[in-house]
Amino acid sequence: MNAPESETSEAAVERAVHRSTPHDSAVLHVTGRAVYIDDMVEPTGTLHLAPGFCPDMARGRIRDIDLSRVRQAPGVVAVLTAADIPGRNDWSTSIGGDPIIAENEVEFWGEVLFCVVAETRDAARRATRLALFEGEAEPPVLTAEEAKAKGLRVLDDYGYGRGDVARSFASAQRRFDGVIRNGGQEHFYLEGQVALAIPGETGDMHVYSSTQHPSEVQHCVAHMLGVPNAMVTVEVRRMGGGFGGKESQASQWACLAALGARVTGRPCKLRLDRDDDMVMTGKRHDMTTAFSVAYDSSGKILAADIDFMARCGYSADLSGGVNDRTLFHADNAYFYPNVALKSERLKTNTVTNTAFRGFGGPQGILAAERIMDTLAIVTGIDPLEIRKRNFYGPGRDVTPYGQKVEDNILPELIADLERSCDYAKRRQECRAFNSKNRILRKGIALTPIKFGIAFTLTHLNQAGALVHVYADGSVHLNHGGTEMGQGLNTKVAQVAADAFGLPLERVRITATNTSKVPNTSATAASSGSDLNGMAALAACNEIKERMVAHLVSTTNAAPESVVFADGRVSHTGGSLSFADLAKSCYEGRVQLSAAGFYSTPKIHWDRQKAEGRPFLYFAYGAACAEVTIDTMTGEMKVDRVDILHDCGRSLNPAIDIGQIEGAFVQGMGWLTTEELVWDDKGRLATHAPSTYKIPTASDVPAIFNTRLWDGDNREETIHSSKAVGEPPLMLACSVFSAIFDAVASLKPGVVPPLDAPATPESIMRAVAFMRRSEA
Ligand code: MTE
Ligand code: MOS
Repeated sequence: MNAPESETSEAAVERAVHRSTPHDSAVLHVTGRAVYIDDMVEPTGTLHLAPGFCPDMARGRIRDIDLSRVRQAPGVVAVLTAADIPGRNDWSTSIGGDPIIAENEVEFWGEVLFCVVAETRDAARRATRLALFEGEAEPPVLTAEEAKAKGLRVLDDYGYGRGDVARSFASAQRRFDGVIRNGGQEHFYLEGQVALAIPGETGDMHVYSSTQHPSEVQHCVAHMLGVPNAMVTVEVRRMGGGFGGKESQASQWACLAALGARVTGRPCKLRLDRDDDMVMTGKRHDMTTAFSVAYDSSGKILAADIDFMARCGYSADLSGGVNDRTLFHADNAYFYPNVALKSERLKTNTVTNTAFRGFGGPQGILAAERIMDTLAIVTGIDPLEIRKRNFYGPGRDVTPYGQKVEDNILPELIADLERSCDYAKRRQECRAFNSKNRILRKGIALTPIKFGIAFTLTHLNQAGALVHVYADGSVHLNHGGTEMGQGLNTKVAQVAADAFGLPLERVRITATNTSKVPNTSATAASSGSDLNGMAALAACNEIKERMVAHLVSTTNAAPESVVFADGRVSHTGGSLSFADLAKSCYEGRVQLSAAGFYSTPKIHWDRQKAEGRPFLYFAYGAACAEVTIDTMTGEMKVDRVDILHDCGRSLNPAIDIGQIEGAFVQGMGWLTTEELVWDDKGRLATHAPSTYKIPTASDVPAIFNTRLWDGDNREETIHSSKAVGEPPLMLACSVFSAIFDAVASLKPGVVPPLDAPATPESIMRAVAFMRRSEA
C-alpha cells in the first residue's frame, strides 16, 4: 500500500527510489487496456503475413516449391520468397547462417521457406498450407550426443581451467563421476512474436516490434532492405514477456513484416500463431553434463572436471555467449582449487537455441548443485554442510576464470535463511516422515546462487537515455532499455523522479525508440536498470546542473545549498517549485534537454586467455524448498519455499519481490514440468500448451516466503541496487535438489540418476533405479 501523498515526514524526505510503487502499467495489464502491438489501431490497408514451411522435412534439399496454389488462394496479395529480399538474407545476431527465408537447404523442421501476405491473417495462414514441395529429405541429427559423435558443431569448443587436474585426480583417494541432463525450455511469453511495419514515403520504414533489442531489429531490417540504418526506426512500448526469447529472435519476424511492406507498399503485420511460434523460435539449451570430482575426507573438493554438451540447434545464434555463461557459473558459489571446464556447442537439426532467463547460467549452476548433492551422499555429510564447506572464502576466493570474489555475502545470507526457515528441524521432520512412509517421501534442500552481473561481451555494457524537462516542469523520459513486464520503466522513472525531487507522476515514461537513443544493447543479462538507470541519472544531473547554474545566476543562491525535493527547489535564499524553476530556465534560454550515457566500469575479459573481470559484481541468494513425492506415480508437490535474495539496496522492493517469485516459479517449470519432445523425424511434438506444461497459479508453493537481503551493493551501481531479473530463476534448483533428496531417501548411499525436468516419468525412472540397486 502506498502512503497517502499528503503524509510528508519532517525527518526524511520521501524519495522516489527504494520504494514499492506499482508497475507503471499494472492497472493497464490487469484490466486488459495495455496496448500490445496486436492491439494497436491498424493503419488503413494493413496486410497480414504468415510464414510457411515444409511439413515433412527437418533436414534436406528443396528442389522446387510450387507456390501457384498459394498465390491463387483467396485474399492473397503476395507471396514472399528469398528472391524478393533486396539486401542481406540473414537475421543472425552473430556469425550468420540464419536465413530470413531459406532458399533450398532445410536445416530444421519449421524453417521458413516462403511467407504469405494477405488481406487477413486467417487467409494468409490458410494459404500457407497449399504449397507443394519437391526435394530430398535426409535423416536429421537430433541430439547433442549424436552431433558430438558426428563432429557437428555450430562453434568451436571452449574451455579453461587451473591447476593440474590430472595430477589431482591421480593422487586423490576419493572421487566420483556423474552425468546430469537438463531439458530445454520454451519461453511461452504471453504475447508471441509480432511486428508491424509501416512503409514511409521515401523507402524508410517504421517498425513496431516486440523485441528486447530494438537496435538489432533496426540493423537487421536495414541490411535486409539494403538501406542505411538511419532509414529504419524501431519502436517498442512494451512486450508481453520476452524472457530472452526476443533478444535475438524477434528480428526474423520484423524483417518479414518490413519485406512485405516494401514489396506491397502497404503496412504489414506478422503475428506468429502460437504453434508456429513454438516450432519456429529457439529455446533454452538442453545439455548433457558429465563431471568428475576429487575430494578429501572432509568433503572439500580438490579437483573438478566438467564437460557441458549443449544442443544448439542448426545455427550459432547466441550459443557462444550462452555457453560461455554456463562455464562462468559451473562453480556457482563453490571453490574448485583445480578445475577443467569444457563446453561443446553442438549442431543439430532443431530450431536454433537462444537466450533464456539466466542465459546458460542455470545449466552451470544445476551441475554444481548436482556435484554438491552427490558429495553429500558419498560422504554421508548433510548437503547444506557440504555446500558451506565448499563456499568461496578467504584464501579460496578466485573463480576458475580468474575473477576474485570480493563481495561474498553468502555465509551470512545462508545462516540467516537457515534460521528463518528452520532448516535443521525440518530436515529432521522430513527424515522422521520418511521413516514412517514407504510410498510418500519428503525431501528438503537449501541451495545458494551467485550470479555474475554484466554482459560478458564487454562492449555491450553501455546505455543511453534522453530526458526532456518541459517548461511546466513535467519530465519526458526515454532510454534504450525495453519493458517486458520486469518493471524497468518504472525503476528508471523512479531514478529520474528522485533526481529532480519530483513525484513519480511527473515523469512520463515513453516507448523505446531507436531514433531517440541509438546503438543500444539488448535489454538482457539483467542489466537493464543498472545500465539505463545510470544513463538516465547522468542526463538528469546534466539538466540539474544547468538549472542550478541558472538559479545561482538569478538569485545568488549558494550552489551547494540547492536541494531538489518534494517538487521544490530550495536553497539558502528561499525556495520555488520545480515547475517555476523550469519556466524560469526556459525564459532564461537554458537548455532543458539532455542525453545521458553510461558504460560499466572495471570490467574486461580476454576470452582467448580466459582471464579478466567479466562481472562488475555478483548477485546472491538462497532458497530452501521442501517437497513430497509419490513413489508410486511420480507425482510431486512443493510444500514450502523460503527465499532470501540479494537485490542490493532495492530500487523497488515490490517489483523485485515480483521478479524473484516469478523467476522462481519459471525455474520450477524448467526443472519439473516443462518438457520438449521431438519425434524421430525432428518434428517438435510439444508445440502447444496442451502438451507443454508451464507452471500455473496452482503450482505456486502453498507456503512461499520471500525476503530481501538488507544491504547495499558494494560496487557503485544505481543507488546501490543490484540486478534482479535472472538470478532468482536459479533458486529453483532447491526444488530439484529437494526432489533428489526425497528419491535418495529410498536407499541411503546411492546416488539417484535424476534428470531434469523431474517430471513424474523422470522421478519414476530414478525411483525404479533406487529400488533395483543395492546400497
Ligand atoms: N520479467 C518479466 N515479467 N518478463 C520478462 O520477459 N525477462 C527476464 C527478466 N524478468 C522478463 C522478466 C530476463 S531474461 C531478463 S534478462 C531481465 O528481466 C531483463 O530485464 P532487466 O535487465 O531490466 O532486469
Ligand atoms: Mo535475458 S535471457 O538475458 O534476455
